[in-house]
Amino acid sequence: MKLICANFKMNLLKDDIHNYLNTIKGKINNKNVIFFPSIPFIEEFAKNNYLVGSQNISFKDFGSITGDTSVLQLKELGITYTIIGHSERRTFFNDSNYIAKKIKLGLDNDLKIVLCIGENLEEFEKEKTLEVLKRELDEALQDNLDIINENNLIIAYEPIWAIGTNKIPTNSCLDNTISKIKGYLKTKYNLNLKVLYGGSVNLDNIEELETIKVIDGYLVGGASLDALKFLSLINKVN
Ligand code: 13P
Repeated sequence: MKLICANFKMNLLKDDIHNYLNTIKGKINNKNVIFFPSIPFIEEFAKNNYLVGSQNISFKDFGSITGDTSVLQLKELGITYTIIGHSERRTFFNDSNYIAKKIKLGLDNDLKIVLCIGENLEEFEKEKTLEVLKRELDEALQDNLDIINENNLIIAYEPIWAIGTNKIPTNSCLDNTISKIKGYLKTKYNLNLKVLYGGSVNLDNIEELETIKVIDGYLVGGASLDALKFLSLINKVN
């Protein structure tokens, strides 16, 4: 079954979350959905028995890091997943420097990791996509090979130029890139990892995306914020 991750990013307020939970109540059956709300609302999703993850974890377990949140604190709220390396974290918080450490900390604490990788528009136009993706994978995996396995690490391919832009790669481009990611992971690291696609996934393009066989699921941003639309979207995913 495909995995559908709803990344709310820094959106929605308390009332919105309550309405959201009321709307989806009893309607997500037999679907593999994981919610990634902002930290204040994680517990709300966990209490209602949804699979829930954090959008990030600190690179340390405890200490003097003002404004950060420890993986252990997040686990107390009920997370079993975390996203690591989202391009917005890489851009605003230099997260590329901490990816390997965060993966280790997450895995040592029994979380499942959704690792985001993706090229920017300039890299895409200069045909550097694979070079960028391989580098991001190497940075994340090399120090953690002894603890990574096919159940605890999921890759999310999110071309940065496709996030929030309503532009997505062509089918053949996506098929080719995701196949190459899987091939690289297999030949270099002997890993068969799931690869999700993220970037402007919505009700208008989900049926087309569903024709691409190598995609193992989706990381959905904007289109996950409206509960009814999100329910329609997940009903179109096999
Ligand atoms: P959008 O679906 O809003 O393009 O966001 C994608 C994303 O960044 C999910 O992590």
